[in-house]
Amino acid sequence: MKALLCKEFGPPETLSYEEIEDPVLKEGHIIVDIHSASVNFPDVLMIEDKYQFKPPLPFAPGGEASGVISEIGDGVEGFNVGDRVIASSGWGSFAEKILVDPNALTIIPDQMDHNTAAAFLMTYGTSHHALKDRADIKEGESLLVLGAAGGVGLAAVELGKAMGAKVIAAASSEEKLQTCKEHGADEVLLYPSGKMDRDQQKKLSDDIKELTNGQGADVVYDPVGGDYAEPALRATAWEGRYLVVGFAAGDIPKIPLNLALLKGCQIVGVFWGAFKGREVEAHNANVDELLKLYGDGHLKPHISSIYSLEEGSKAISDLAERKARGKVIVQVRA
Ligand SMILES: NC(=O)c1ccc[n+]([C@@H]2O[C@H](COP(=O)([O-])OP(=O)(O)OC[C@H]3O[C@@H](n4cnc5c(N)ncnc54)[C@H](OP(=O)(O)O)[C@@H]3O)[C@@H](O)[C@H]2O)c1
Repeated sequence: MKALLCKEFGPPETLSYEEIEDPVLKEGHIIVDIHSASVNFPDVLMIEDKYQFKPPLPFAPGGEASGVISEIGDGVEGFNVGDRVIASSGWGSFAEKILVDPNALTIIPDQMDHNTAAAFLMTYGTSHHALKDRADIKEGESLLVLGAAGGVGLAAVELGKAMGAKVIAAASSEEKLQTCKEHGADEVLLYPSGKMDRDQQKKLSDDIKELTNGQGADVVYDPVGGDYAEPALRATAWEGRYLVVGFAAGDIPKIPLNLALLKGCQIVGVFWGAFKGREVEAHNANVDELLKLYGDGHLKPHISSIYSLEEGSKAISDLAERKARGKVIVQVRA
């Protein structure tokens, strides 16, 4: 089969498109013929050896995919050859086939196409878990989303709206903000794309407060970190919840803890990958809820680019270079 391989750690252009052996079926496992894979920020980090999970070299990146089950090992129940599935594999999806544990599979509803399915689970799963389980967001509360046109960000915008929040989408370009408006944001906020000085950070806090009647945001969804985190925490409301989702800007912020005291607010960690492993029933219920929201037309995954497997390094570059809006797809089969 064809695969896009990380043979040594480095930037996306070092990935190598190659012919490799097909995976061999094992007891208790399933082989999926991949149709589409999507890029998530962990793929950017993994190929540079900057992520917490470190697959042995060589490996194909790509943490999630959609496809069709082609082979089923002994001892597997509940799946059939021909089932359309999302595979949450962690890595290995930039390839024509993948061997997976059945626990990594979710059946795709009939009305969802393969590209949408590949773009769906990690972003919406993360943002849903964050807003519902970690922030306990309430109808009528204000929600500030940083990096709001990114993968998890745009999912948070749509889910915030579906949960009845007033959504303020913050991002680094007018084009990104336009995408956020198209996906339901009530208000948009442009922030600088480079390093921010003290005055720019204060302006960001002031702008957020202005959009929330001087109160600050009830919930802040932060997948960006860096210079954006402290101004956003300074503009968090009394008894607000500040969701620590990720650090796409690169730097892990060091936060003055007196801010949490002064606001009576919570700084709450979000780790969807651990949640779905530790709380399987709650995760499965969340997936059912998400698929219903999709079926009812509340969620519309946005795909900004589609690349072939051979060009898959460009898909990862789109995220690394801050160009992506919503999701970027690597289409393995037409
Ligand atoms: N906690 C969890 O369970 C969980 C699950 C999934 C993902 N994550 C994390 O969430 C973050 C976002 O993931 P994603 O897949 O949504 O990524 P993404 O689509 O690339 O979105 C990241 C956003 O961050 C902003 N950003 C700011 N500085 C950046 C920089 N130097 N390089 C790239 N982007 C930058 C960009 O928006 P602007 O240009 O508008 O600032 C971009 O849209 C990552 O840190 C990822 O590891 C966490």
